[in-house]
Amino acid sequence: MKRPYESPPASREQRLKDWFVRWIHPRLPRELDRQRVKLLYFVWGYWPLLRLRTLSVVDRVKLLARFIRIDWHVLHSHQPSEIASVCAVLAQRRARRGEVVVEAGCWNGGASAKFSLVCELYGYRLHIYDSFEGVEPMTAQEKQRGYDFSGEYVASEATLRATLQRFGAPDVCSIHKGWFAATLARSPVADVVRVVFIDCDSAKGTQEVLLGVVPSLASDGVVFSQDFHIAPVRELLLDPGTWQRYGRGVPSIERLRGHLAILRSRRQSERRVLANRRLGVERRVAERRVAVAVA
Ligand SMILES: C[S@@+](CC[C@H](N)C(=O)[O-])C[C@H]1O[C@@H](n2cnc3c(N)ncnc32)[C@H](O)[C@@H]1O
Repeated sequence: MKRPYESPPASREQRLKDWFVRWIHPRLPRELDRQRVKLLYFVWGYWPLLRLRTLSVVDRVKLLARFIRIDWHVLHSHQPSEIASVCAVLAQRRARRGEVVVEAGCWNGGASAKFSLVCELYGYRLHIYDSFEGVEPMTAQEKQRGYDFSGEYVASEATLRATLQRFGAPDVCSIHKGWFAATLARSPVADVVRVVFIDCDSAKGTQEVLLGVVPSLASDGVVFSQDFHIAPVRELLLDPGTWQRYGRGVPSIERLRGHLAILRSRRQSERRVLANRRLGVERRVAERRVAVAVA
């Protein structure tokens, strides 16, 4: 949980962050210890996991405990609320035959282990892509526009495997080593992709991942970008030209918690709005009936 902000966070969070940097950083030089302390504040972001209706209550609590165990032991760069948002979409339904989840950019495998547990529960296979050489050197233009992530977040494939083995569900995972330009951008994923989680800190990398996943997206497939706070990534995703080549229309983009944005086809978003509206009408009718009965 250690990523530089490009856009200023809300002022309460900024004050908390300043306080944390001033008082906690000097006392806790190890990043993993700082992540553990931050968990006290951020753990509430896992709340949506406890509301996953497609799991029994016992399974929800077990999943939460396993996620917290990962947070305690594996240094990662996400917040509980971000991961919970992805898991909530994934848990909307079980996998159809051969459907997969793609994670592009895994570092030590903290998010991979969490996703693998959910994939195991819902029947998905998890495909994990990474260079294992850190963030690709950024272009001069990208460096000018913001923080230079080049070479950050290096972890080996062995580290990822160890994380999956100890905390996740390694049997549902496939690992693809290499720069996205040489893997995902070469040819689209052969299976139907239900959910994609992109966390690579660059517009170039994001573009390459899209080339590999968008043509394979399920009709209710969803792309998450964990890099929406990075201006060049945001511009790429918001540019209608990015989506032209796929012939699937420009997706709707909604910023969720933290750095996360969700992208889905407009037809899907409309269906969701209509379903929510219908639910609202039904709820109001039910309330009126109760009021009449009481009167
Ligand atoms: C911020 S870290 C991922 C953090 C992880 N998702 C988590 O939640 O802890 C970014 C990862 O993307 C990988 N990466 C960045 N650019 C890449 C590229 N062009 N090709 C392959 N991997 C890349 C890096 O090696 C690194 O592991």
